[in-house]
Amino acid sequence: MVSPDLSRSHLQPPPLTMTKQPTRAKPTSSLPFLGGAFVALLMVYALWSFVSTNPGFSFNEQKKANADPVNLRHDPPDPTFYDDPRLSYSIDRPLRNWDDKRREWMKHHPSFSAGARAGGGERIVVVTGSQATPCKNPIGDHLLLRFFKNKVDYCRIHGYDVFYNNVLLHPEMHSYWAKIPAVRAAMVAHPEAEWIWWVDSDAAFTDMDFKLPLERYKNHNLVVHGWKNMIYKEKSWVSINAGVFLIRNCQWSLEFMEVWASMGPQSPNYDKWGKIQKATFQDKLFPESDDQSGLVYLLLKEKEKWGDKIYVEGEYYFEGYWLEIVGTLDNITEKYEGIEKEVPGLRRRHAEKVSEGYAEMMEPYLKEAGYGRWSWRRPFITHFTGCQPCSGKHNKLYSGKSCWDGMQKALNFADNQVLRSFGYVHPDLLDSSSVSPLPFDFQA
Ligand SMILES: *[C@@H]1O[C@H](CO)[C@@H](O)[C@H](O)[C@H]1NC(C)=O
Repeated sequence: MVSPDLSRSHLQPPPLTMTKQPTRAKPTSSLPFLGGAFVALLMVYALWSFVSTNPGFSFNEQKKANADPVNLRHDPPDPTFYDDPRLSYSIDRPLRNWDDKRREWMKHHPSFSAGARAGGGERIVVVTGSQATPCKNPIGDHLLLRFFKNKVDYCRIHGYDVFYNNVLLHPEMHSYWAKIPAVRAAMVAHPEAEWIWWVDSDAAFTDMDFKLPLERYKNHNLVVHGWKNMIYKEKSWVSINAGVFLIRNCQWSLEFMEVWASMGPQSPNYDKWGKIQKATFQDKLFPESDDQSGLVYLLLKEKEKWGDKIYVEGEYYFEGYWLEIVGTLDNITEKYEGIEKEVPGLRRRHAEKVSEGYAEMMEPYLKEAGYGRWSWRRPFITHFTGCQPCSGKHNKLYSGKSCWDGMQKALNFADNQVLRSFGYVHPDLLDSSSVSPLPFDFQA
């Protein structure tokens, strides 16, 4: 089948004046051209009826084709915040009037405000990373590579940027605190980005189609996964998860991160914060101040100051606990295959670049699936909390094998959604090495 975009080239008439085409022989009659135009019109009509009879199928090609491309070279000499010698990327040095500074920079770089690649208000930089030295776990680096490949896949499909950081940007802000300086630096490095999306190295995108419902967060500056009553009633340090968060690139976020970071190991008050956190959260058993407890603490104790800008997402797997997810992946695979079998448009092959259009086409069939726990929708992000793939020091609650099998399963489940566009599939989610080619109408 011809795609709507291909038909566009047929719409371009050949040049009419001979002066621009000196090498071409003068046509003896204008009839061949007219005939070609007629055929092109027929094709457009046929395609139009094809598109219009497929509900939910719209690539909005006209809008995207007309948008200005992002200009990766244009950097005019007009001064911006980058010319201020006091500018610092470090979490130690406050940055003020960031909203104005960003706006000013954007004014000089207008191609990032519109443009197909910029995604119209969806400018997102995914930031992730791991330690600077090799993993202790013999397969740790292999696992980190696969987790990173998964993020690269997701970002490529959706046109997001991704930054992998593997050095401590603040030498004392180690382990779970290391993300804050990385996110802060990413904000300054990417003034064009509206959002910075931190995703832990041990979290995998397990729905390559799902996109953040950004419209829902338009009045918020920080999005975390969690449960409000566990924050405010149970006062639990695991009421949210700080391993995945979406934070707006704005002054509010810089100030919030300053306060958040002030509980970290680089602060003279680190020990004091450890005690305060332990006293606040009965279920917290270790004495050190940690970023997640710090975040819950700010939600709980400084609700007036920060609370109305923080969205606690509990509706879908903004990130989800792997133990409650991995067992469901086989059934979910079957459900999706069942739908694809029934819908010719979903069954057929297409280019990876236009995946988002097919994800939209799938959506009506997922209405019944629901979201989050007990749902048969693909979980958006599966987080291997407690598995510690790099160090190998997994939580004693589960065996190393269950972690390893779970990771293989989730990563192959995600990979199958990617490999499909390349013509292959892992038939067994526990066998990472084997793939089979997909026949043309593979689900039929
Ligand atoms: C998967 O589906 C089968 C058959 O419908 C069902 O018996 C089983 O409980 C399901 N497993 C999970 C983990 O939901």
